[in-house]
Amino acid sequence: MDPGYAIEVSGLRKSYGAVEVLKGVDLRVERGSLLALLGPNGAGKTTAVRILSTLLTYDGGTATVNGYDVATQATGVRRSIGLTGQQTAVDGLLTGYENLVMMSRLFRLRPAAARARSRELLDRFGLSDAADRQVKTYSGGMRRRLDLAISLITAPPVLFLDEPTTGLDPRSRGEMWQTVRELLAGGVTVLLTTQYLEEADQLADQIAVVDGGRVVAEGTATQLKQRVGAERLELTFADQRSVGAALTALGADQPRADRELTVSVAVDHASDVKRVLDRLADSGVRPERLFVAEPTLDDVFLTLTGRPAGDR
Ligand SMILES: Nc1ncnc2c1ncn2[C@@H]1O[C@H](COP(=O)(O)OP(=O)(O)O)[C@@H](O)[C@H]1O
Ligand SMILES: [Mg+2]
Repeated sequence: MDPGYAIEVSGLRKSYGAVEVLKGVDLRVERGSLLALLGPNGAGKTTAVRILSTLLTYDGGTATVNGYDVATQATGVRRSIGLTGQQTAVDGLLTGYENLVMMSRLFRLRPAAARARSRELLDRFGLSDAADRQVKTYSGGMRRRLDLAISLITAPPVLFLDEPTTGLDPRSRGEMWQTVRELLAGGVTVLLTTQYLEEADQLADQIAVVDGGRVVAEGTATQLKQRVGAERLELTFADQRSVGAALTALGADQPRADRELTVSVAVDHASDVKRVLDRLADSGVRPERLFVAEPTLDDVFLTLTGRPAGDR
């Protein structure tokens, strides 16, 4: 094992019955960094997280977390990790404070230490005002924050966050991102799964795009965008007639919205853009507005897999 990696996975395989859902996954996560496992529903993200947190056995390959072998040193792995799952694990009938104290006791903190740690975590996650309310009255974002607080009771060096913002409203999502950034600043290593391309772009040092149980691409958000090799020129026209004329002048691109056309241009696009505008001018149409958009990770997914993210 390279001590530089907090998580190291090689050739990981897993089948449920006859169905192979991980088909040889390789991952490396440097200490103190965040790796995003980005992929659509059913890609195998939760399966990988459950294996790495020792909740599920696997069929082939090797995996270490914080230097401990997942198969043979499960206790060491469990002491090293915090896990926030896709479904929140908190008890709705207990208060936030009671949930934290109960879990702290399960982690063998003494009563006074459990109470102190619980207050500290409630404060850190902005839940102090709601500490004595039953969790069933919490918003989705508050429940996720409580879940995350619980996974941090033992201050683990490695954190697994399985789709931490799925189903949250944009504001709660933003708050969760801020919390994750603070954890990273504190030196924690994070493996985060997400279906949101923007989330990976916002938080990840490295992104592994998973699809059908394989890593289909790896890199930083910028590197992945470069693989697309194109930017999008978005053109808006005054009316349908101009859109029709522009379509004829430019060839095959599909209308995007009512009065809009999107044309692919090279990343180094100046001469490409000029060519498009010249062709439009030659056929007597002039766009009202034009905008060159950087490739998004959605474009990356489409380039890599031939279909949009989340579309199976
Ligand atoms: N316990 C299970 N038994 C059988 N199939 C499963 C089980 N858990 C997950 N699967 C299947 O394995 C594939 C990967 O699932 P999962 O790891 O949950 O993907 P993701 O988290 O990326 O959505 C899916 O096709 C899913 O239906
Ligand atoms: Mg999942």
